[in-house]
Amino acid sequence: MNTATNSRTGRLNGKVALITGAGPGLGGVIATAMAHEGARLVICDINPEALKTVAAQLAEMGAEHLAVCCDVSDSAAVDAMFAQAVQRFGTVDILVNNAARLPSSPAETERRNKHYAYATTSIPRQSLGIVSSLSDDDWLKWWGVNMHGVFYCTRAALRLMEPQRSGKIINIASIAGLSTGSMHSPGYSATKAGVISLTKTAAYDVAGANVYVNAIACGGVMTPPFEAYLATATEQQKNSLFQMMPLGRLGTPQEYASLAIYLASDEHYLVGQVISPNGGMVI
Ligand SMILES: NC(=O)c1ccc[n+]([C@@H]2O[C@H](COP(=O)([O-])OP(=O)(O)OC[C@H]3O[C@@H](n4cnc5c(N)ncnc54)[C@H](O)[C@@H]3O)[C@@H](O)[C@H]2O)c1
Repeated sequence: MNTATNSRTGRLNGKVALITGAGPGLGGVIATAMAHEGARLVICDINPEALKTVAAQLAEMGAEHLAVCCDVSDSAAVDAMFAQAVQRFGTVDILVNNAARLPSSPAETERRNKHYAYATTSIPRQSLGIVSSLSDDDWLKWWGVNMHGVFYCTRAALRLMEPQRSGKIINIASIAGLSTGSMHSPGYSATKAGVISLTKTAAYDVAGANVYVNAIACGGVMTPPFEAYLATATEQQKNSLFQMMPLGRLGTPQEYASLAIYLASDEHYLVGQVISPNGGMVI
């Protein structure tokens, strides 16, 4: 038995947790953290290499798991993944809708820097010209994964959870859906606001079947997309970013994973809530 196995506390003992976007970013950290708590894991990602990395970590821990390469924006592929999960483990008790496209392309980075400079520098008020310059593609590319994927997975999970009268769904949203936190990326922000809205309607819908749906609206998290941004940002750009965070730092994936475990556990009375660990960026 390795150290990781010894440190398990069993808050999710025997539960089956399906986590989307479970590559080495936040999804993978939530997966290994839930395994530490005794959960059996179904991990899914569109990127086979990313999936392999996290599957190897789970294997190293001796955690029971199933890795499925799946594009969550494909409704039929999502249904097939849940069928595989049922075949292997009998059901799904916990769903973490974590998979997403993030605003990290060079064009998005340029807009991000423009936003941060505008928010932290004394310059004349002006239009940033972001919305008016977006193409149809810039707008539409966000919806498949970030919004439709969350709906397809939620629907498939509820078809198991409602009849068994138990389940926990945790949607990974963002302060982008709550505030001006990512106003440089209107499509990303709109889809994350959509996730928050779906969280509330689904939560109301299924609470009577003892299924709890809640959202985590993340602030900045130190995962590969933010690491890549910080690796190329100038000192001034980094200062602008941290200036907007009262705590002066990004959150660690572990700080978010501990909240996901709490929401997945039977230790709370939370229904349709949006909890936002963000270092004070949105209060
Ligand atoms: N990093 C941050 O600062 C931050 C801030 C707010 C919210 N979030 C949210 O946290 C979650 C995790 O983000 P992260 O920072 O770990 O980024 P990440 O890019 O490391 O993780 C996203 C994962 O989703 C996978 N994915 C993308 N499209 C997919 C698809 N169609 N089907 C299945 N998997 C797909 C990617 O391959 C990747 O492994 C996302 O929902 C993101 O919006 C992150």
